[in-house]
Amino acid sequence: MDLVNRIEQIVKKTLERDSSGHDWYHIDRVVQNANYLQSKEGGDQLIIQVAALLHDISDHKLNGGILNDGGRVSQRILLAEGTSEEFAKIVADIVDNVSFKGAEVEDRPHSLETAIVQDADRLDAIGAIGIARVFAFGGSKGQLIYDPNLSPKIHSTFEEYVNSKTTSINHFHEKLLLLKDRLHTDTARKIGQERHDFMKAFLKQFDREWNSTFK
Ligand code: ADP
Ligand code: NI
Repeated sequence: MDLVNRIEQIVKKTLERDSSGHDWYHIDRVVQNANYLQSKEGGDQLIIQVAALLHDISDHKLNGGILNDGGRVSQRILLAEGTSEEFAKIVADIVDNVSFKGAEVEDRPHSLETAIVQDADRLDAIGAIGIARVFAFGGSKGQLIYDPNLSPKIHSTFEEYVNSKTTSINHFHEKLLLLKDRLHTDTARKIGQERHDFMKAFLKQFDREWNSTFK
């Protein structure tokens, strides 16, 4: 079995029971998005594929709140699978830099490979699939669908973003609607536009129904 297949088995086993929108099919879609972006934009295919597979392996949203742990876990897995230290370090660096960290926290991808994996993950957070995932995540964390008394916040640090109480509808304003302008590659921007417009239409309809007068 080659490295990609072996990593795939490890990731599948770790995330197969997830019900917060980070299940194996999320990972699989991100790998497919990343492969497509790589075919248009370039970058090292093996690094991109392995980093996409490992990008949620120890995410703070799933590991009980430990921040920036995915790189460490990825490095451990890759070294156990016999990759070079250099390869493991490059992948670990990408994994630690994929996640969204707040509206005012700047994203600085250090490489084309980081930009591509981040774009691939972000495309899966928006559009119809993004809508499905946000409510799956919110439900898994005991978060309300919407609360008109709780306004969305613009977060300036990762800690603030992670610790603030929110609703799934607020999450659109705190993150999902911002992603379109925070994609790095032209190829992702093209795909992202349609998904963004679909979320806007959904929110408009949600508002109409929430505020409807026939009670
Ligand atoms: P990232 O690490 O950039 O946040 P992930 O692929 O790990 O990307 O998953 C992020 C997804 O989790 C979001 O797109 C969203 O659907 C969901 N999510 C994260 N935080 C919240 C939240 N507070 N409320 C609802 N959904 C959330
Ligand atoms: Ni992800």
